[in-house]
Amino acid sequence: MAALRYSRDVTSPGIDRTSDGARLEDGDDVGAVIVSAEDLQARIAELGAAITADYAGRPPLLVGVLKGAFMFMSDLSRAIALPSEVDFMAISSYGSATRTSGVVRIVKDLDVDLVDRDVLVVEDIVDSGLTLSYLQRYLLARRPASLEVCALLVKEGQQRTALDLRYVGFTIPADFVIGYGLDVAERYRNLAAIHAYDGPTP
Ligand code: IMP
Ligand code: MG
Repeated sequence: MAALRYSRDVTSPGIDRTSDGARLEDGDDVGAVIVSAEDLQARIAELGAAITADYAGRPPLLVGVLKGAFMFMSDLSRAIALPSEVDFMAISSYGSATRTSGVVRIVKDLDVDLVDRDVLVVEDIVDSGLTLSYLQRYLLARRPASLEVCALLVKEGQQRTALDLRYVGFTIPADFVIGYGLDVAERYRNLAAIHAYDGPTP
């Protein structure tokens, strides 16, 4: 089970089915709001402040994990009031569309050298934790000065591996979610809030 610091539990998901899902043709697949756009932005401001305090004097290299983290990375990077750099990795995990196998393929590697850098991995969501666990081993082999993780979402009770998550946005129920970067078959990434997915299993 992950050590959840800076985490905020989401115990009572909202019932607002409209938000910006209403502008999608298949809005019926866009379920209840799990984390509203306002709550996302408020929590990201808190995460940014915590990171700003912790990394004073040692500029972080933010490593975003594409594609899911692209929106979180954009907002989080602006909430960190420090000199910082960003880079991205793209990975794709083998397995079904809604369940990872933990076997990860690196589609795009980092452009920068990690040696002696203070690396902060920016992840969208931790489910089994297998993807992140693989990534941490891969990045540690490159000898950074430090390696920490900032995950926007952690699914409660799903982790199959011990993970040290330095920063967590929200702990959410284990159901599949979409929006704010998260997809089903590449769709719904542009929703401003995190929603339940009520559509058919792809
Ligand atoms: P894990 O390896 O089981 O922790 O899965 C992590 C990856 O699976 C995330 O980075 C996402 O890309 C994807 N994923 C897991 N749960 C969800 C979800 O509810 N919605 C969208 N993508 C998810
Ligand atoms: Mg991801």
